Amino acid sequence: MVAVAIDGPAGAGKSTIAKNAAHELGYIYVDTGAIYRTVALACLENHTDTSDEAAVETLLTTLDISIVFFNGEQHLLLNDRDVSELIRTEEVSMKSSVVAQMPAVRKYLLDLQRGFAKTENVIMDGRDIGTVVLPDAQVKIFLTASAETRARRRVLQLAAQGIKEDYNKILKDITERDYNDTHREIAPLKQAEGSIIVDTSELTLEESQQKIIDIIRECVV
Ligand code: DC
Repeated sequence: MVAVAIDGPAGAGKSTIAKNAAHELGYIYVDTGAIYRTVALACLENHTDTSDEAAVETLLTTLDISIVFFNGEQHLLLNDRDVSELIRTEEVSMKSSVVAQMPAVRKYLLDLQRGFAKTENVIMDGRDIGTVVLPDAQVKIFLTASAETRARRRVLQLAAQGIKEDYNKILKDITERDYNDTHREIAPLKQAEGSIIVDTSELTLEESQQKIIDIIRECVV
């Protein structure tokens, strides 16, 4: 089996690039951030206080989270309900980087993520894929872009969905999430040993995508 790990900060374009690369190469694409988002959504829906780790841990015992693929597209099921759209709000984004700091949450999600790489060729994206989830991945990529570029892209993406958000608010959210993701004690976002850095600040989506596909093809011969 071939495993490709793509890690990087929020908004670097990982999901779109990894999804398209997986499609091109015939691999399955697993977006691990969506699983953390699903835990965050469950906390919000159940009014679980995310500053209380024990309460989140208790909530986890009541959750059944699974990933299914419809036409190659990943869907997140929370207790058999498709929550793939509900997990994309800004509120869930912020909450997900809080629950992702909890060892109990990370442990709970580890096997679910590793399971895919046992039976399929995968491109998996997240924050700790090359360092913790799939340390033996044949290809490790660290995809990044400046915080300003990521905030600008996010504002445009939201505008395309008819959602108007203030650039400075989004930049502040991104900076806060970067801080949470890189400073947590367990599995912080960092470059995995042997990973290739791709900075997309000056690249278009198509250029970034082609670069990733070329790297994978070069590494997996
Ligand atoms: O990639 P994303 O924005 O959908 O991720 C949501 C949050 O989940 C992010 O702030 C950090 C966390 N996350 C993580 O800690 N480890 C992963 N492998 C993927 C995401």
